[in-house]
Parts: sequence; C-alpha cells; structure tokens
Amino acid sequence: MANKYSIVIAGGGSTFTPGIIGMLLDNLDKFPIRSIKLYDNDEDRQAKIGGAMEIILKERHPEIDFLYTTDPKEGFTDVDFVLAQLRVGKYEMRDKDEKIPLKHGVFGQETTGPGGIAYGMRSIGGVLEIIDYMEKYSPDAWMLNYSNPAAIVAEATRRLRPDSKVINICDMPIDLMYKMADMVGLKEWQELDFSYYGLNHFGWFTAINDKEGNDLLPQIKEHVSKTGFADGIGSGQHVEESWMETFTKAKDVYALDPETIPNTYLKYYFYPDFVLEHTDPEHTRVDEVREHREKDVFSMCQKIIEAGTAKDIEIELDAHATYIVDLARALAENTKERFLLIVPNDGAVPNFDPTAMVEIPCLVGKDGFEKINQGYIPQFQKGLMEQQVSVEKLVVEAWIEHSYLKLWQALTLSSTVPSAKVAKAILDDLIEANKEYWPELN
Ligand code: NAD
Ligand code: G6P
Ligand code: MN
Repeated sequence: MANKYSIVIAGGGSTFTPGIIGMLLDNLDKFPIRSIKLYDNDEDRQAKIGGAMEIILKERHPEIDFLYTTDPKEGFTDVDFVLAQLRVGKYEMRDKDEKIPLKHGVFGQETTGPGGIAYGMRSIGGVLEIIDYMEKYSPDAWMLNYSNPAAIVAEATRRLRPDSKVINICDMPIDLMYKMADMVGLKEWQELDFSYYGLNHFGWFTAINDKEGNDLLPQIKEHVSKTGFADGIGSGQHVEESWMETFTKAKDVYALDPETIPNTYLKYYFYPDFVLEHTDPEHTRVDEVREHREKDVFSMCQKIIEAGTAKDIEIELDAHATYIVDLARALAENTKERFLLIVPNDGAVPNFDPTAMVEIPCLVGKDGFEKINQGYIPQFQKGLMEQQVSVEKLVVEAWIEHSYLKLWQALTLSSTVPSAKVAKAILDDLIEANKEYWPELN
C-alpha cells in the first residue's frame, strides 16, 4: 500500500460524511491521506454535502485531492479504502419500516424486527454493488462497511462475496465503551480491554479491564444496574430523548443476566411491549433524525456553500467517525489494535453455529483481522442467538431465492412478531411498500 492513502466514502450524501471527513483531517499525522472522494447514487443529496466539503478541503488541506461523483469508475479507481454507509431507500423508506409494523401492533425499528428485515432486503443489493465496483476498479482495497442492518448485510457478504475484503462494523458498543470508560474515570474506549460476543445489535460484554489488567466490571455493573448507561458521558452521539430512554432501559436489560453488560439493542427483544407503549405512531425515530441530525448537517453544509467559506465552522467528531478511521488506520499501518468486528464464527464461539456472522473482538493489522476466541456461551444467550441468527439467515436466503415463504418464515421466527398471521399481514404491506427495492418474491 502507498504510504499516503486514498479514500472513497460510499453513500457520500450521508449525514455522517462531514464527521468522517473531519476525523480524517484530524488524524493526518497518524494516517496520511492524499485523496478523498465521495460516491453516491443520489446526485442532488450528495452535492449538498460534497460542495461544502470541497470548500473545507480547499481552505484547510489544499494538498489533498477531493471530488464527489455519481460515476462508479471515477469514484472507485485508485482507492485504498472504501468507507461504506449506504441507506438504500433513504429516510423515506426508513419511515415506512418504522410505521408499517405499528399498524399491526408490532414496534417499528431501523435495524430490528420487521423494519430491520425490510431494510435488509433493500440493503443487500446496494452493498454488493459497492463491493463489485471496488473489486473492479481497485481490487486491492478494503471496504469497511457501516451500512445497516449490519447483521443481515454481513450474512449476505459471507454467502455471496466470501472472498471479498469487506469488514462489517457497528458503532454502538463503542459508544457504550465511551460511557463505561466515563463511569470508571477513564476517557477513551481504547483505554479498555474488553471481551464481547453476540450478533450485531445483539450481544454482551463479558469482561472490561483497564490496561493494567484491573477488573472494571464490578464498578460498571453497579452503575448499569442503577441507571443503565443514561448518565455516562458518551461520545457526542445519541443524545436525544428517545436514546436516553434506551440508555435508561439498559438497566432492565442488564437484569436478565447480571454476569454481563448488554448491548442496548436487546431492549427491543426483551421489552417489545415497553417499546410499543413508548412509541408515537405519528412520530418515530426517523422523524427525530430528520428534525435534528439531517437538518443540522445539511444546514451547516448549506451555510458553508452560501458563504463560500467554512472559516467559522467546526465539525463535530464522535464515536462513529473515530471508529472507522481508527480501523482503516489499523489496516494501513498494522497497529494490531483490538476492534469489535462482525466476522464468520467458525469456532470463535465453539458452541454456536460455525456459519454465523458474530460480533467479537479481533486484532487488526495489515493482513486483516485475527479473531479472539470468546469460548463457550451460556444457554440463555445461545438460545436467543440461535433464533435471531436464523431470522437473519432466512432473510438472506429469501433475497437470494426470491422466496416469499422464507421471508414469511423469517418474520414468523422473529421474537418481535407474535404470530404467523401477523407476520403475513406485515409482510404483505412491506412488499407493497418496497416494490422498487426488493427482488420480486414468488
Ligand atoms: P443517509 O440517508 O443520510 O445517507 C445514506 C446515503 O446513501 C444517501 O445519500 C443515499 O443517497 C446513499 N445511497 C443509497 N443507496 C445507495 C447506493 N446504492 N449507492 C450509493 N449510495 C447510495 O443515512 P445516514 O443516517 O447518514 O446513515 C447512513 C448509513 O449508515 C445507514 O445505513 C445507517 O444505518 C448506517 N449506520 C450504521 C451504523 C453502524 O453501527 N453500523 C451507525 C450509524 C449509521
Ligand atoms: C447506533 C447503531 C447504528 C444505528 C444508529 C441509529 O449508532 O449502532 O447501527 O444506525 O444507532 O441511529 P439514529 O440516530 O439514525 O436513529
Ligand atoms: Mn450499529
């Protein structure tokens, strides 16, 4: 690899693009960059971000080449890293994922339950397309993928692009590690040594030590059992009321297994009744995102473009941006740091499906990742994970085989859906709403 790197952000019009660019620019001493490109298939959305980023780059780092494009050849030629963050169907379809299940008495959520399944059926094709562009135009590159639902996307990459250089990741446990670090008087997630296993948005921390090997779990457990993650200072992400509710609810999620610290997303599986009671069917999370993050990011960019300068602008840097940039740097510079990645199990959790994509710690260097085995897992987690991984596998099979039956099975198997009858009613509505995006099911 070159010693100055070239990056393309796929899904360049994402609300997270300015943060990632800000983070890249903040780390040039550790991770030198010669070129940043944005690629998106929505020219107008991307131009709003791209135009502003162009001004920032010109003012602050004119030595870095920058462009934004909707042409795959231009976007993916001569790159070392593809940082992917697509949302196939954008917020318009997230809105449907969140609101359709509610009509049938089931909560609607971006990556879990029926909403996550619908999103998965849209994402698979989009992510595979990006992998194929990368392999055509820059066959040596790595793709670091944030595109959700990461569990389903990861299973699709395992099935359909097993040899591709793709690493699927999630920022949730990182945000939680910032919060746990704060609980014990530390600052950075990298100050913690951790063990963790599970599926994406479906996992548990089993150990947290400081770098001297001191066990921090007792102190963290004490804290989480009382207030969840609600009062830990995080990374600047996830600050709105609905997230605070999730962070607080983590104390009840924790109660199910006081030996471990749970991922916040388990709330949706353990307390779906609570989630439903606390949902306004007319105003779900996507509305909050559009009113806050999307509005803030796009108005900041518009301001830069109108003024023709970014001199008074500071981009906020958070866990999401830190994590993907640190991971790219670990691959490029062979740092061998520990990251939580979504990877083929293949024995890392010995009493669990070897063909599952699991989220576990790995050491990352220039040849990729080395998994750190997590050992045998208890019956409770194993049972939950077996059901959930089957849902995810059935979705990918349904996509590959264009199978209505398998998708109906996936929805029926999801612990978030009460019966096959409800599963079918939701499915039929989702098919109608996703006509433009899903393969036709037979
Ligand atoms: P967003 O809608 O603002 O941005 C997504 C962009 O992807 C849009 O500009 C859209 O036009 C583009 N896009 C859609 N389909 C495309 C395709 N086929 N080719 C190229 N571009 C395409 O969304 P956002 O809220 O900024 O989130 C971006 C993504 O990051 C989502 O998938 C979200 O779920 C994911 N995310 C993941 C994590 C994680 O933990 N893994 C964390 C945060 C966000
Ligand atoms: C966390 C998860 C992501 C998810 C995001 C949703 O960061 O790890 O996978 O996409 O939350 O956040 P939002 O603000 O879009 O609801
Ligand atoms: Mn995630």
